[in-house]
Amino acid sequence: MDIESLKASFVKTFNTESIIVKSPGRINIIGEHTDYNGGFVMPAAINKAIYVAVSKRIDDEIHLYSESYQQFHNCSIESIEKSDKGWANYILGVADQLKKRGYKFGGFNLYLDGNVPLGAGLSSSAALECATVFAIDYLNNLGISQMDRALISQKAEHVFAGVNCGIMDQFASVFGKKDYAVMLDCRSMKYVYIPLKLDGYKLVLLNTNVKHSLSDSAYNTRRSQCEQGVAWVGEFVAGVTSLRDVNRAMLEQYVKPKSLEVFQKCNFVVEEIERVVKAADQLANGDLAALGHLMFQTHEGLSKDYEVSCAELDFLVELVKNDNAVLGARMMGGGFGGCTINIVEDEAIDELIDRAKIDYKQRFNLELDAYVVQTDNGSELVN
Ligand code: GLA
Repeated sequence: MDIESLKASFVKTFNTESIIVKSPGRINIIGEHTDYNGGFVMPAAINKAIYVAVSKRIDDEIHLYSESYQQFHNCSIESIEKSDKGWANYILGVADQLKKRGYKFGGFNLYLDGNVPLGAGLSSSAALECATVFAIDYLNNLGISQMDRALISQKAEHVFAGVNCGIMDQFASVFGKKDYAVMLDCRSMKYVYIPLKLDGYKLVLLNTNVKHSLSDSAYNTRRSQCEQGVAWVGEFVAGVTSLRDVNRAMLEQYVKPKSLEVFQKCNFVVEEIERVVKAADQLANGDLAALGHLMFQTHEGLSKDYEVSCAELDFLVELVKNDNAVLGARMMGGGFGGCTINIVEDEAIDELIDRAKIDYKQRFNLELDAYVVQTDNGSELVN
């Protein structure tokens, strides 16, 4: 990302100077589909980010421009409505949430750019929401806390993008810290930073280039299935408000007889929550091999039980399974496309990527993209 050229494009487009806010995409080491179930997640912000150049206007208008889509979108703060331009909705959704919460802010110009690949499961949308709320907050001195920035962004996604997502992506984009993963308890919202010590290894993302569209996918259905399971257990067990409060025995007793499918979905989540707790210890102890083993288990569960994988993701995990240079691999994020995350030995990375590209092309006639990612800080002002 070239900040100087972003500044220059802004001046050319809006005839005034801007501030620049950066908010990163995210990876997730482990803990998938656990966030909206009151469980644990372990994301990290990465060195691929959304950048917004923003300035205040003297009127109440919102003027937006997307570099990737080469499109404008204008409206007034008085009448913020969902747009048919998907990218604009993430920004408008945030402005709408701020309004609903009683924050007062004036019109603004916003120029959107970035290098988070879109639809790759790296949370470009969350990054855009978090960048927007940071910028509006900063320009208007609204004093919004980090946690509220994440929550406002999440709500924007629910209302304007129609995805009933959990808090993980927005949390990671706001709270990320270079060289750390962050383990978040999505029930208490308490979190701890865990040093991501990968001595001799790196995190490699393999992008299937199968675009996932969470709102069109089974994401919202999965969420309802989990809620159904909780409701059935809750009829018999007091104090159960999420799958975090549920164990396998309860699922066997109260859910399995009613629906095998709901049982399977809920059981995956219960197991995944346990895996994150184990993974935190393993990462802290530097036991990457054990962590990698858990990642493979997570993939198996996401694919066979939770059923949010796809042939392309399964293929890429299978491809590295017996490779000694790869400690762990799994699909990452909501599913149905996007990337796998792999822990790969430094020296073996180039060869692995070359091989994966050839095999993937041969099997699916699709290009594979690969990113060796590093962790980075959460939302911040860029000078
Ligand atoms: C998407 C959602 C997150 C989370 C993941 C699955 O990225 O936005 O809230 O549920 O899927 O772990």
